[in-house]
Amino acid sequence: MTKKFYQLSPAERLETLDLPTDLADFYKGQQSVELENIIENYLADFRLPEGLLHHLVVDGKVYEVPMVTEEPSVVAAANNGARMIGLAGGFSSKKASQPLLGGQILFKGVNQFKLQAFVDQNKAAIFAAAEKAKPSMVERGDGLKKVNLRFVGEEQAALDLTVQTGKAMGANAVNTILEAVKSCLQPYQDNIVAAILTNSGRDALVTVQGSVPVEAVGGEMAAEKIVSLSDFSKDDVDRAVTENKGIFNGLSAVVMATGNDYRAVEAAGHAYAAKSGKYQSLSTWQLSDDKEALVGQLTMPLNIGVLGGAIAALPMAQKNLELLGNPTVDELKKVILATGLANNLAALKAVSGKGIQSGHMKMQARVLAVQAGARPDEIMAVADELAQSGQIDQENAERILGELRRP
Ligand code: MEV
Repeated sequence: MTKKFYQLSPAERLETLDLPTDLADFYKGQQSVELENIIENYLADFRLPEGLLHHLVVDGKVYEVPMVTEEPSVVAAANNGARMIGLAGGFSSKKASQPLLGGQILFKGVNQFKLQAFVDQNKAAIFAAAEKAKPSMVERGDGLKKVNLRFVGEEQAALDLTVQTGKAMGANAVNTILEAVKSCLQPYQDNIVAAILTNSGRDALVTVQGSVPVEAVGGEMAAEKIVSLSDFSKDDVDRAVTENKGIFNGLSAVVMATGNDYRAVEAAGHAYAAKSGKYQSLSTWQLSDDKEALVGQLTMPLNIGVLGGAIAALPMAQKNLELLGNPTVDELKKVILATGLANNLAALKAVSGKGIQSGHMKMQARVLAVQAGARPDEIMAVADELAQSGQIDQENAERILGELRRP
């Protein structure tokens, strides 16, 4: 019997594609046994650079933070922001975050009050079904914690489940519990539209803050400009989107490096940014009362884990967690948010100051040097001269490399 495409080995899959030899050889060289079973129709590994946010201080603890990103200036910005906040002792968090993930059973065509009465009468059975589905969670003190019926639209309702997930992000656990709870709702089977976790993260808010002496950002006037820019992101959606993008530059790079789901984190963050009905920046920057410090705060939902899910399958994610000192989920959440706030500060300082182009172009120069064919020992020399030349493009990079190699 002929195999289906997804049943082929990576090598067989490449053969089937009948690619030009050099393209097939290239993909073959990028395949690994570690990752070939993680996704369907695996073709190859896609490598991204990992950089280090060196010496991030959060709640008095020092972290070496791995960041995975394709954007040249992101790791530099994170280091720059973290260094500034480090001058005043680093980032701090207000309180411990909760490892709570939500799930929903969605109903249509129901009499909401009758459904409410049914849920009230069957609460014990719902909790028992959840426990039976995931007994090990309950043994650890995790598992289903809350059940609440919410009326949505006309004849629509959502049964909201709140699950304490422990060290894992808990997506699979919540979906398993939802399936089990569904079976307790027999009279309503035809009314159930779906039973699925929610990525809203409504019960998993995290806050970090950081303050920086105004001299470190260029004095009081420069600090006031940063505050004005931050104010803009509360009033203007176009600016808010860009500012949040800058926050996610750092935040998502750590989420990626630790094998967590950056799409879930970003979706939750953007929804939270629009919680007032208007999309706004997730961070706020203000001057302290004595005008000596610029104080920033970032709050958003965060559902991540330190084991399970993709982490179990990605050796790099496991090593990166080791590099971080095997943090608890709460610690990792704060490291992730602190990194986002560090990137945010560096971006606001650059955007409200001399602009981002000079910094970006320096980084871009390195990329162009590599593209021009510079060897590792030549990259910095080509990039430096390229950045100083004022004409930062591929053609000039090639010219500079040619001159460097001329005997
Ligand atoms: C660039 O990737 C991110 C920034 O545009 C963010 C911002 O403007 O706040 C610099």
